[in-house]
Amino acid sequence: EKDILILGIESSCDETAASVVKNGRIILSNVISSQIELHTLYGGVVPEIASRKHIERINQVIKQALSDANVTLDDIDAIGVTYGPGLVGALLVGVSEAKAIAYAKHLPLIGVHHIEGHVSANYIEYPELEPPFMCEIISGGHTHLVIVKDYGEFEILGRTRDDAAGEAFDKVARAIGLGYPGGPKIDKLSEEGNPDAIAFPRAKVEGAPYDFSFSGLKSAVLNYLNQCKMKDEPVNRADVAASFQKAVTDVLVDTAIRGARDFHVDKLAIAGGVASNRHLRAAMKEACQRETITFYHPSPIFCTDNAAMIGVAAYYEYQKGTRSDLDLNAVPNLKL
Ligand code: KG4
Ligand code: ZN
Repeated sequence: EKDILILGIESSCDETAASVVKNGRIILSNVISSQIELHTLYGGVVPEIASRKHIERINQVIKQALSDANVTLDDIDAIGVTYGPGLVGALLVGVSEAKAIAYAKHLPLIGVHHIEGHVSANYIEYPELEPPFMCEIISGGHTHLVIVKDYGEFEILGRTRDDAAGEAFDKVARAIGLGYPGGPKIDKLSEEGNPDAIAFPRAKVEGAPYDFSFSGLKSAVLNYLNQCKMKDEPVNRADVAASFQKAVTDVLVDTAIRGARDFHVDKLAIAGGVASNRHLRAAMKEACQRETITFYHPSPIFCTDNAAMIGVAAYYEYQKGTRSDLDLNAVPNLKL
């Protein structure tokens, strides 16, 4: 049978990315041009700057992805592109580029849901992984517990009521002066801290066992910092980072394990930027071993935003016959 090659394109936030994916699981190239240094100057992603940088970089990124994969556009069978959710201006760059290529080369166009992409990152390194399985999606904008019933088919068990897990990492990092992006910095600083030093709350949502709430935890950290200030006590930032990280992790692990148990699912995957957190990965692995659940986790480079995951998701949509028209638009608040 003929190989199917998908060109994946991702530009929903602050990474311009392109990837060539073979038969849905084999990554021939994975080019990511990060804008992080630029946005760090402003303490967060500046949408207007993100859009401009995507425009400057996207052609080169795609060229590189094709060349790394040793193919040309003539070898590509379809274009997959993130069309939401994300920053509208940023999304539009990828979508416009994908439409232009699809039109010029008479190729099928497939709009991909960014979160479906994150989930699909798990297929890259686990050739044996197939739905159904449970997935906890923990990114900068989303926190969801879902059952992946089939490729691209989700039953949502729970979601965050306020902040996303990654958002909490970023806000706490800012409060203790670590800057943007907060997740990796808290991950690193926590190594030097005592995770049991400060008792931060593990919030549960009454009557919704699979929902999350992280704003109370964030406030607890801010209150703690304020109290230290008022009492003129020094803040041990490493202890704050480690204790906060443990509180988030405890909730993420407990909720996922409870979901797996309640729904009799013996396969649990994690996805999204926060899934690259080392303490979370270790704790989830241990809990899964205890419960005899098989644990799946993408390598860190496939957890944070990338186009390989978009190519993978697009492949399964392609196989199902999903096609987007050339009037495909960016949908900043696209629902799962
Ligand atoms: O999935 P992602 O790259 O973009 C979104 O779709 O949102 O996730 C970005 C989020 C940011 O909030 C970032 O701080 C967090 O993932 N993150 C981490 C780590 N690496 C990235 N959070 C905790 N630990 C990390 N190592
Ligand atoms: Zn993402």
